[in-house]
Amino acid sequence: LWTPAQIIEDMITRVREQVGNKKVLLGLSGGVDSSVVAALLHKAIGDQLTCVFVDHGLLRKNEGNQVMEMFADNMGVRVIRVDAAKLFLDRLKGESDPEAKRKIIGNTFIDIFDEEATKLTDVDFLAQGTIYPDVIESAAVKDGKAHVIKSHHNVGGLPETMRMELVEPLRELFKDEVRRIGVELGLPHDMVYRHPFPGPGLGVRILGEIKQDYADILREADAIFIEELRAAGWYEKTSQAFAVFLPIKSVGVVGDTRRYEWVIALRAVETIDFMTARWAHLPYELLEKVSSRIINEIPQVSRVAYDVSSKPPATIEWE
Ligand code: XMP
Repeated sequence: LWTPAQIIEDMITRVREQVGNKKVLLGLSGGVDSSVVAALLHKAIGDQLTCVFVDHGLLRKNEGNQVMEMFADNMGVRVIRVDAAKLFLDRLKGESDPEAKRKIIGNTFIDIFDEEATKLTDVDFLAQGTIYPDVIESAAVKDGKAHVIKSHHNVGGLPETMRMELVEPLRELFKDEVRRIGVELGLPHDMVYRHPFPGPGLGVRILGEIKQDYADILREADAIFIEELRAAGWYEKTSQAFAVFLPIKSVGVVGDTRRYEWVIALRAVETIDFMTARWAHLPYELLEKVSSRIINEIPQVSRVAYDVSSKPPATIEWE
């Protein structure tokens, strides 16, 4: 009989056998898979685990602090946070091509992670949140952070001098099993059942060139959208929902004042496998509330649009 508690016991035994008293490094992204690995390894080997959390500055509102609060403050996991927002922005400056942006983000991520890893001299193992679907689909790799992790997987991303053996405790599990294990390990339900978030983060949700103020506006708009979705009970009914920053200006009027500001698009989809998706038929009242809150609370936004494109032919992300 499969119970999360039994699986956890079994995984802990196997991890201890594999690593002994050696040190393990984990790239923590704040996503479900790496978070569950962090919680599990912390339980199995405690201080032998060091996590590196690269904050690329393209995370959602408060996300970086939440990751640190949960793992470092609450659970006592050893986490090195690298605030690399400035480096990412510098390298992305002037670039507006979606694939080029993904590559820059992915490569910068590898550079920073490797730099941190090299500083930790006596690490023998690299842990990863590889799950069963990743194993099957490893031929069809996506760009961005997922790709980074996968290139580490092939040891391609790591310098010759620090080849490490892999620890992949979730390799045989499906996503829903990983989530149940996460809950059993004490991770918050909201975190474990969060919508997926792409490795390049807001980088693919700011169309064209990425700028600091665009990211700040988008973070606020996205937070309002998600807050209202949750309040209306629609978060669980959608598979993925987010705001997109459109770098075009539109005229609006507030009181007697004319505004000429940016446009935010809202995207919400229902899907089983993310290969095809239907745009979510959110209630008009909900859309109305989100739209008026965004325009009223964010002075740099004058208009909100709702994306009614399904996949195919549109993709879920706008870039
Ligand atoms: P699309 O836009 O291709 O997205 O319909 C399908 C799913 O994949 C996610 N996605 C990414 N995840 N790196 C990632 O780790 C990426 O570069 C990337 N691009 C898209 C997207 O959020 C959706 O869940």
